Amino acid sequence: MVSRVIPVDRFDLVIFGATGDLANRKILPGLFRRYCAGQIPEGSTIIGAARSEMTPEEFRDQTRAAIAEFGGNKCDDEGALDGFLPMLDYVAIDAKGDGGWDDLKSKVRDDTVNAFYFSVAPALFGDLAERLHTRGIAGPEARIVVEKPFGRDLASAKALNAALAEYFDETQIYRIDHYLGKETVQNLMAVRFANILFEPLWNSQFVDHVQITVAETVGVGGRGSYYDKSGAMRDMVQNHMMQLLCLIAMEPPYHFDPDAVRDEKLKVIRALQPVQPADIVRGQYAASKDAPGYLEDAEDPESTTESYIAMKCHVANWRWVNTPFYLRTGKRLRARTSEIAITFKEPPHQIFDDAEGEWRENVLVIRLQPNEGMNLKMMIKEPGPGGMRLVQVPLDMSFAEALGDEADITDAYERLIMDVIRGNQTLFMRGDEVEAAWAWTDPIIEGWEARGDKPQTYDSGASGPDDALMLMHRDGRRWREIRE
Ligand code: BG6
Repeated sequence: MVSRVIPVDRFDLVIFGATGDLANRKILPGLFRRYCAGQIPEGSTIIGAARSEMTPEEFRDQTRAAIAEFGGNKCDDEGALDGFLPMLDYVAIDAKGDGGWDDLKSKVRDDTVNAFYFSVAPALFGDLAERLHTRGIAGPEARIVVEKPFGRDLASAKALNAALAEYFDETQIYRIDHYLGKETVQNLMAVRFANILFEPLWNSQFVDHVQITVAETVGVGGRGSYYDKSGAMRDMVQNHMMQLLCLIAMEPPYHFDPDAVRDEKLKVIRALQPVQPADIVRGQYAASKDAPGYLEDAEDPESTTESYIAMKCHVANWRWVNTPFYLRTGKRLRARTSEIAITFKEPPHQIFDDAEGEWRENVLVIRLQPNEGMNLKMMIKEPGPGGMRLVQVPLDMSFAEALGDEADITDAYERLIMDVIRGNQTLFMRGDEVEAAWAWTDPIIEGWEARGDKPQTYDSGASGPDDALMLMHRDGRRWREIRE
């Protein structure tokens, strides 16, 4: 297999917030890696725009340092930097005033793809959109890229959608959920819709339940005050976990086409039933001997924000009635691991009554990170004479082993930025999708607030609060172990 780089057209990409954390960690190093892969056409420009006064040369120095720190080792050739850095330019801009806009206009050309990346606080989205439009910088073909958080509830998400819609068409707006840019997340669609094997079983007749886990070992130290206004529900469930659930639960789209895929995801979100308080467990990590606890990281000893959440959800439609989806995500857990496990039901009739060994369910595990791959747990006969003894074994596939260099996983941001330039919205959230996700999330959060619910404490390095175990135990099920 030969790695393919699909060419894109020459572009001018303006990054608002170019001195910020995301630009330095992800966007600029990602663009550099695409340059190394030969995907950035000659004559393209990357224009940093931020409040700080800085020369283009200083911006290039900042980018050089960011690449050194976050660029990875895919392209460590100094010569490549010499080719990449001259593509960078910089404009000091006043998002709410007049400063810098004429300068920016003079740099964005009419005969290239124009993309504007809003890597800034959502409160500035409207100001940027208005200036880009009224000053004639972003025309009807231009693309606007916006980052999460896209609102903190339905009302604010609607306001953001309205602010963008005043100047741009939905076909121009690219709302990023970086989980959709992950190689293995897209693989969920390939596994389901490019194979005949699973789809006939992919429903409540055959699937007992689904577990979606996104576990992290990091705490929120360093971004505690931001995180504390958000919590795991807003930070992870409303967006990333919801997208994973959609890709597992959706009907096959008629084509791998932006609206066809997003229409099907939207139907899943709309079919999600309200979650009962008894079906949600929230937690906060405790201090360990070498790291502070959540309350210290959040710098608020009274905080009731959750750093962990586990919940049982139901998708109320023909396919999934009676198949629960258990979601859990949290910080400072035992291992960094993200996976989706689909547990199938028992065969309708057991013929091995007298078999020794314990019958166990078939489980399909899709590992999203790290060690991307799939694992199908099956029953076989234990080899050897002496009767029929059943044993569960894994059919294990690591994408890295199966695909070699091909599995060299591209960072989500690299892929998504190139999709913007290509004009492909399939992996971006549509406005109605985001609103539907908030419409489901809002009553849950409002319920906690109204009741004054407090999260339980869990030990750092554990699997989460004890009640999260009970959430499954009382249904006669159990969580998979969190481990790499
Ligand atoms: C971000 C959240 O969107 O996703 C972070 O704000 C979280 O809190 C991160 O750590 C997880 O992303 P990844 O790619 O490391 O799984």
